[in-house]
Amino acid sequence: MPTQIFHFAILGLGNIARKFAEDLALIPDAALVAVGSRSLERAQAFAKDFGAEFAAGSYEETFSGPRVDAVYIATPHVLHKELTLMCLEKGIPVICEKPLGLNLGEVEEVIAASREHKVYLMEALWTRFLPCTLKLKELIDDGVIGEIQSIRSDFGFRAKDLASVLRPAPASAPDLERNRILNPKLGGGALLDIGIYPQFLSQFLLGAPEEVHATARLSPQGVDLDTQVTCRHAGGKLSHNYSTVLGRTKTEALIIGSEASLHWHPRWHEPSSFSLLRGKDTPPENFYFDYGGANGYRYEAEAVMADVRAGRIENALWSLEDSLALHRTLTEVREMIGVRYPGE
Ligand SMILES: NC(=O)c1ccc[n+]([C@@H]2O[C@H](COP(=O)([O-])OP(=O)(O)OC[C@H]3O[C@@H](n4cnc5c(N)ncnc54)[C@H](OP(=O)(O)O)[C@@H]3O)[C@@H](O)[C@H]2O)c1
Repeated sequence: MPTQIFHFAILGLGNIARKFAEDLALIPDAALVAVGSRSLERAQAFAKDFGAEFAAGSYEETFSGPRVDAVYIATPHVLHKELTLMCLEKGIPVICEKPLGLNLGEVEEVIAASREHKVYLMEALWTRFLPCTLKLKELIDDGVIGEIQSIRSDFGFRAKDLASVLRPAPASAPDLERNRILNPKLGGGALLDIGIYPQFLSQFLLGAPEEVHATARLSPQGVDLDTQVTCRHAGGKLSHNYSTVLGRTKTEALIIGSEASLHWHPRWHEPSSFSLLRGKDTPPENFYFDYGGANGYRYEAEAVMADVRAGRIENALWSLEDSLALHRTLTEVREMIGVRYPGE
């Protein structure tokens, strides 16, 4: 029997929605069938670009068209909880962009809803699904680097409009309003946007931290611009997790083992390569991966398709417990550095 085409919908048609839709087009048994935006015009234009048959001028209306097997939520963080709950209550499986919620409480709420309604939910931690990540983990599990001793990783870029937002006078509303990264009302800041990746990596390889230390530089509006987190994991192992929106960093990771180390090349969180460093007299062994021009989002999309088709309500590689642990740490860090969003 031929495989039934898996129908995706997307809510929030910005930058990442476009990249995700480009990758969906590479999956033979997936189709983007419905898109929802705050603007019908934007939805129609997006639907035309990607061949979706149904365009809605509101998120709610997105589900009044063709059958939807899963929805990808790609709005700013502050809407993740509300839209995830809306979809789960309608019985629609959800892959929601990171962060799954603005704080631990929101993440707990959406996970409880997924379990109550028995409807699939996954945080779109796409790095976890990349072939590069799978290979790296396989080498570590095979003992190739010995025992991991510590991890150091970073992620940084210079946010748009930074100069105007940082000037001593309060930033003008238009500067802030349009800037997802710097606007507290949209859940801005380095930690939730990009610091989540180094934090993910350390949890993935060393387990959730037992002790967390953090310091940050905040913007005049109160979002974190430059954030250093040091964690102590089981066995006293340390991870150093740095994120910044003040300037470009190498965005690489070093996993230091007792026998060898792994250097995950820039930008490590996306389709990338890595080297195995055995010793100063041994040339590095390089591992390259061919992503065939894809952005790297097809792997998480394929994971959702396999899970939903099999009737699972969560993913085994990035589980809801993994999301909970990650957001427990991120919320603890935010309390330490003093970042509070409106309404918290
Ligand atoms: N996995 C990754 O690699 C990756 C990369 C970038 C971002 N992200 C995540 O994806 C989410 C979206 O990021 P993005 O870079 O795509 O943002 P973006 O370009 O600003 O797009 C977000 C979209 O959300 C909708 N939206 C709803 N309310 C909004 C509001 N008050 N202000 C602005 N937009 C609003 C808009 O779509 P409509 O007008 O069509 O409704 C907008 O185009 C974030 O949570 C971020 O963490 C993930």
